[in-house]
Amino acid sequence: MLPFTIEPTPTPTPAAVRDAALVDPGFGKLFTDHMVVVRYNAAQGGWVDARVTARAPIPMDPASSVLHYAQEIFEGMKAYRLADGSTALFRPDANAQRFQASATRMAMPHVPQDLFIAAVEQLVTIDTDWFPKVEGGALYLRPFMFASEVFLGVRPALEYLFITIASPVGAYFNGGGAPVTIWASQNYSRAAPGGTGAAKCGGNYAASLVAQAEATAQGCDQVVFLDAATRTWVEELGGMNLFFVFDDGSIITPPLTGTILPGITRDSIITLARDLGMSVREEPYAFDQWRDDANSGRLRETFACGTAAVVTSVGTVKDPNGSFTIGGNQSGPVTAALRSALVSLQRGDAPDPHGWVHRVG
Ligand code: PLP
Ligand code: COI
Repeated sequence: MLPFTIEPTPTPTPAAVRDAALVDPGFGKLFTDHMVVVRYNAAQGGWVDARVTARAPIPMDPASSVLHYAQEIFEGMKAYRLADGSTALFRPDANAQRFQASATRMAMPHVPQDLFIAAVEQLVTIDTDWFPKVEGGALYLRPFMFASEVFLGVRPALEYLFITIASPVGAYFNGGGAPVTIWASQNYSRAAPGGTGAAKCGGNYAASLVAQAEATAQGCDQVVFLDAATRTWVEELGGMNLFFVFDDGSIITPPLTGTILPGITRDSIITLARDLGMSVREEPYAFDQWRDDANSGRLRETFACGTAAVVTSVGTVKDPNGSFTIGGNQSGPVTAALRSALVSLQRGDAPDPHGWVHRVG
């Protein structure tokens, strides 16, 4: 594998300043002292020049092709401080593989899995003092790659930067774990068949922002997208996958049709629920059915899951025709059991039968 040059920052954040900031980090506002940068240059044969360095602005030519055609992908993953003081990543191999799948869709080069994981490990190691002290806190890692070639022709670029930054985080939603409110977008689609919905590319999020802004204007926390072709089926939230829990204990989550992001939390929840003896089906679920089942009581719980939000109950769903509540707008027992199973495994407090906890140091 490509060797890393390690250049610790000459001006680290003073410990007192850092520790004060770590008491209430919020989400995605605070950043550590370092970043990892690896360059790709087709003319030089691929990946070159891997560096752990001071976090700093990236000089950008105004003709860098990402600024025009948005050839960009990213990942989101967390490192946890375990009870014994060590640090661990959760399923980094799955993030590395999804990064490759996103790269394929966006006509970008693959970052080899060992280079991806090493980049993240390097950052967790050098910034190990940046884990938040709050309950539920973690070091959120954001690996991303973009077309850095200075060229305005429309074709896959020949030069890229693969960068990883880290952000100490607390909860994604303010509200202390209360169920969130979801806005069902009628006007906007997230992803169409044959599009980029299954890739974690910045463009998907750019396209979701107007719908998210509509949700916020309606007093909702998140937007839920329906399938673009028929506007019948529930797909996912702007940044989370969805699960539905019924009165017979069974669970449904929408299938990976190519328009939904294949969440690593989603995959983990399916496995953990089955480990707990629950029945989980990957099956389309219609928006109208969701409303009917919530109103009849056949649907007991709905929850959203993702790296940033972990497992969060959905209490109310609004659309232009009205709103409905699920399970009396309370967080339910299946959601709580699955959240607890996932979080205790991620934090090293439960057995790890699937080998998901990847110790760093
Ligand atoms: N769906 C979307 C659109 C997302 O942005 C995310 C977050 O990464 C997820 C689902 C959940 O994916 P994961 O569990 O891998 O974080
Ligand atoms: C994540 O959960 O990692 C995401 O990328 C979602 C985003 C809403 C922060």
